[in-house]
Amino acid sequence: MRKLWFLGAGLLVTAALLAVPARADSATETLYKTKCATCHGPDGKGDTPAGKKMGAHDFTSPDVQKRTDAQLSEAIAKRKNKMPGYEKSLKPEQIKDLVAYIRELGKKN
Ligand code: HEC
Repeated sequence: MRKLWFLGAGLLVTAALLAVPARADSATETLYKTKCATCHGPDGKGDTPAGKKMGAHDFTSPDVQKRTDAQLSEAIAKRKNKMPGYEKSLKPEQIKDLVAYIRELGKKN
C-alpha cells in the first residue's frame, strides 16, 4: 500500500514538472501572437502589411539574431520609431521570455 502511494506521488510530481514549461511556452506564444504578430508576423519575418509599412526587421535574419539578449530586451522595452515600448505593460520576465521566443523563431526559419 505504502509503495503504491509513493509511486502515485512520484507520477504526480513528474507530471507537474513536465506540464510547467509547456504552459510557460504557450503563454509566451499567446503574448507574442496578440501583441507582436500584427507587425512582426506570426513567424517573426515582419512580412505583414503593417510590418512592411513600418519597417519591422526580420527576426530570423542574422542581423537581428546576432544582437545580444540585452539588446533585444532593450528593443522591446523602449520605444523606437514605430516600435512601441513595452517597459510599462510587460514584466521583465515576460520580455525575457519574448527574447527567448525570438531566438526560437530564428532557429525554426
Ligand atoms: C506597431 C507595430 C509593432 C508592434 C505591435 C511591435 N513591434 Fe517590434 N518593431 C516594430 C518596428 C517598426 C521595429 C523596427 C524599429 C526600428 O529600428 O526602426 C521593431 C523592432 C523590434 C525589435 C528589434 C529588432 C528589429 O527589428 O530592429 C524587437 C526585438 C521587437 N521589435 C520585438 C517586438 C515584440 C516582442 C513585440 C510584442 C511585445 C513587438 N515588437 C511589437 C514594430 C512593432
